[in-house]
Amino acid sequence: MNEINIIYATMTKHSKKIAEAVGTALKVKAQNVKESPVLGETGLLFIVGGLYGGESMPEMLEFVKSMDAAKIKSAALITSSVSNKKGQDSVRKLLEEKGIKVVNEIRCFGNFTVVKLGHPNKTEISRAVDFAKALADKGV
Ligand SMILES: Cc1cc2nc3c(=O)[nH]c(=O)nc-3n(C[C@H](O)[C@H](O)[C@H](O)COP(=O)(O)O)c2cc1C
Repeated sequence: MNEINIIYATMTKHSKKIAEAVGTALKVKAQNVKESPVLGETGLLFIVGGLYGGESMPEMLEFVKSMDAAKIKSAALITSSVSNKKGQDSVRKLLEEKGIKVVNEIRCFGNFTVVKLGHPNKTEISRAVDFAKALADKGV
């Protein structure tokens, strides 16, 4: 069960951009949570999303709730927000409650109105790609 999958939820397309960059690097199609993604047996699932009022998008939370834990071995979170202070904590909690191990999380800045304009920038996207490649190479 070594397949890698990528799911993203996005309001302002930062997560889409990050997820697609990771997908290109890992040769995996990034799937939008709003387009009824299908997950087969998955060794490592990347969950990419922003934070809105401190929370993940409801569609992502619903998707994680509905996931078949028997099919997913582990997950890694890639989170963008304007403050960078919080992660996808609710997603993490739901995964852990299902017995899906969260191996790591990376946070990057995403702009909101005039705050953190230009983010996620090239450097942050490269960081996210390197983070994902390192986990994929480890085979977790
Ligand atoms: C409606 C809305 C609410 C947001 N609330 C927060 C927040 O509570 N904390 C934070 O750090 N960033 C907040 N942000 C910033 C987003 O988390 C950030 O822009 C993120 O990169 C968005 O990802 P996306 O483009 O994939 O939707 C908010 C953005 C929007 C549009």
